[in-house]
Amino acid sequence: MASKDRVKVGIIGSQFEAEIHAESFRIMPDEAEVVAVASPTPGHAAAFARRFDIPRAFTDYREMLAEPDIEMITIAAPNALHCQMTLDIANAGKHVVCEKPLCMTLEEADCMIEVCRAKGVLFLYAEELFFTPKYVRAKEMADQGAFGKVYLVKQSEKHFGPHADWFWDVDKSGGGVMMDMGCHGIAFCSWFLGRPSVKSVYCQLATHVHADKTMGDDDAICILEFENGAIGMVEDSWARRGGMQDRVEIHGEGGLTYADLHMGNALPTYSEYGYGYAVEKAPTTKGWTYPVFEELWNYGFPQEMHHFARCVRGKETPQATGEDGRLVQEVLYAAYHSAGTGRKVALPFRPAGVKRPIDLWRNPREI
Ligand SMILES: NC(=O)c1ccc[n+]([C@@H]2O[C@H](COP(=O)([O-])OP(=O)(O)OC[C@H]3O[C@@H](n4cnc5c(N)ncnc54)[C@H](O)[C@@H]3O)[C@@H](O)[C@H]2O)c1
Repeated sequence: MASKDRVKVGIIGSQFEAEIHAESFRIMPDEAEVVAVASPTPGHAAAFARRFDIPRAFTDYREMLAEPDIEMITIAAPNALHCQMTLDIANAGKHVVCEKPLCMTLEEADCMIEVCRAKGVLFLYAEELFFTPKYVRAKEMADQGAFGKVYLVKQSEKHFGPHADWFWDVDKSGGGVMMDMGCHGIAFCSWFLGRPSVKSVYCQLATHVHADKTMGDDDAICILEFENGAIGMVEDSWARRGGMQDRVEIHGEGGLTYADLHMGNALPTYSEYGYGYAVEKAPTTKGWTYPVFEELWNYGFPQEMHHFARCVRGKETPQATGEDGRLVQEVLYAAYHSAGTGRKVALPFRPAGVKRPIDLWRNPREI
C-alpha cells in the first residue's frame, strides 16, 4: 500500500510499551506508519526515533499533536497521565489508542469517553489479550460450541514485578498488581464470555514481598460473577519468581481448554553460559530457560495495532474501546473495595470522589 494511504501514527512515550507499539507497526506495516514520537526526557524521543527510523521527535507531546498529518496517537505513558493525554489528543482531532488500565478513576473514564465521542474520534483501548492468537483460538472454539455452556473462565498473569519505578508509586499507577495486570484478566473474562453484565466481585489482595517499595498489592485473586451465571477468575502476582507466566483456562459443561502463552511457544533450553534474551521479565538466560520466538506476535500486539489502524480507515469495527476500559475500571473499584471490606461487592459500583482505586482497599469506607 502506498505510504499516503497508511494511517499516520504518533507515539507518546519512549520506553517499554512505546517500543512494543513501534515494533508492532514495523511487524505489520501495511496499514499504518509511525511518523512521530514524543517523550519528555531530553534525548529519549530522538534516540527512539533513530532506532525505529521515525522522522519526527518531540519532548512535548502537545507539539506533536499540532502536526496536521498525524491521525492516531498511541499513549504509552504512566496511568495517571492517560486521561489528560486522551483529552488533549481528542481535542486535537486525532484518534486515541490508550494503554491499559484506562485511567485512574471512573470520573476520568466517563470524561475520556464523552470527549472522544464529542470530538468524533475513535477511543481505542489497548487490551492485547483480545488479539493474542492462542486466546483468540480458544474463543473461536468456545463460540463454535466446543465446550458447551462455559461456566468458568480463568486468566492469570504473574512475574516478579514491573520494570519501571512509577508502577510502585500508587499516585502514578493507582494501585498494585490488580490494577496493572488484573485489568487484563477482567477485560479477558468479559470479552471471552461475550460481555455479559458483571453481577458481583470478590477479591483478596496482599503485599507479600514488595512492601519495602510499594503500598500497592503484589498478589491478587479476584472472582467475577456474571449475569449469565459464568464465573471469571483473575489471578495476578508481582511476587512470582522465575519470570513471566500468562495463561487461561476455559471450562464448559461439554469440554475445556488450557492456553499458556509461554509454554508451548517456547524452546525448553539449557545453557551453562547464557545468551542474549529469553522472554519478557526472565531473570536469567543461564540454566533451564524457555526462550520464545515471535514474542510480540504471540502476545497479539501487532494484530491489535493493525486492527486499530483499520478501524481508523473504517475497514473494521473497534473490538476494544473506552467502554471496555470503563467496565474494567468499575470492576477494579469493586475489587479493591471487596479486599478492603472482606465482602462481595455488587455492581453497579460507582462511588464518587475516589482518587486512586487502591484507596478503596487501604482506607475502606462505607459506601
Ligand atoms: N499492554 C500491556 O501488556 C502493557 C505492558 C506494559 C505497559 N503497559 C502500559 O503502558 C503504559 C506505559 O508503561 P511502560 O511500561 O511503557 O512504562 P515506562 O516507564 O517504560 O515508560 C513510560 C514512558 O512515559 C513517558 N512519560 C512520562 N511522563 C510523560 C509525560 N508527561 N509526557 C509524555 N510522556 C511521558 C516516559 O518518558 C516513558 O517514555 C502504562 O499505562 C502501562 O500500564 C501495557
